[in-house]
Amino acid sequence: MSAPQPISARHRSIFAPSTEAERVENFESYWAFTQRRDGEILEDRRELTRKNELLAAFQSNPVRSRRPLPDPELFYRNYVRMHDDPRTFDRKTLLLTFLYKFARHEWVGISAAWDRIPSMAECRKTSERISRYHLCEEFTHVRLFHEMFRTFHLDRVEWVPLGKWMGRAYGIFPYFPEPVMSPPAFVSELMGLMLYLHIDAILDDVFADEPEARDRVRALLREIMTDEMAHVGQRRNFIGKIGIRVSRAMVEPMFRAFYADIPESKFLFDIDRMVREAKEFDYSVMPADVIQRSWIPSYCT
Ligand SMILES: [Fe+2]
Ligand SMILES: [Fe+2]
Repeated sequence: MSAPQPISARHRSIFAPSTEAERVENFESYWAFTQRRDGEILEDRRELTRKNELLAAFQSNPVRSRRPLPDPELFYRNYVRMHDDPRTFDRKTLLLTFLYKFARHEWVGISAAWDRIPSMAECRKTSERISRYHLCEEFTHVRLFHEMFRTFHLDRVEWVPLGKWMGRAYGIFPYFPEPVMSPPAFVSELMGLMLYLHIDAILDDVFADEPEARDRVRALLREIMTDEMAHVGQRRNFIGKIGIRVSRAMVEPMFRAFYADIPESKFLFDIDRMVREAKEFDYSVMPADVIQRSWIPSYCT
């Protein structure tokens, strides 16, 4: 019997080179994967049949934290915009208000993109169909985040559009041609994935006295993470030789700008480490249960 190979020996950097032919093949392989995982698209509702089943399974078997947050009004006062000093927050509220602000950016970005990319009927290429499914997955993530808030009895969470200028910036994004848009789109997926790994790492500590709620949040998070891990490879697959170098150079400024905008970030996460880990990212850092259910481009293994 041969000794098991360490996982790190089986993965290459996400910034590893790829050929045009490999990328064409990988779009087909991703497309098969995503349909298997998501089922049919219900385009008018921005939904996917298997994702709906998943969400229904969580909702019909709800888990709620044993005790309320120390001060639920602190959450409601600060989740959309920060009004109080985050240094005075308990860790649970701090993580939850952060999570909302992050998810809200996602929600605004995908809502803007939805109206501007081809519908399924208009799609001519596999990569266009992939993008349509991709957005429906992201809409599901917002629903899964919503379920996280409900796990902590936060039933009054509303999805508030960003202010006029930020909303416009997101609105313009999908109009850029693909080679310009692809590196930042890839880096923002990588940023999401790194963040989910860092959230996963602090769950045990933050929710130590709420084991059931913590496990539920982790289960919801890992569903999102499984999609996001696949998104990282899929968005990487849009990028050629020069774009991949541009992407690596964009990691640091994009991460820093994004987190500077969310006041909770620096009290919860080591942003320097996140930047470092993103630049060095390969799939060996992912949890085994996520790897098993997700997708990796062939040139990264
Ligand atoms: Fe996402
Ligand atoms: Fe994503």
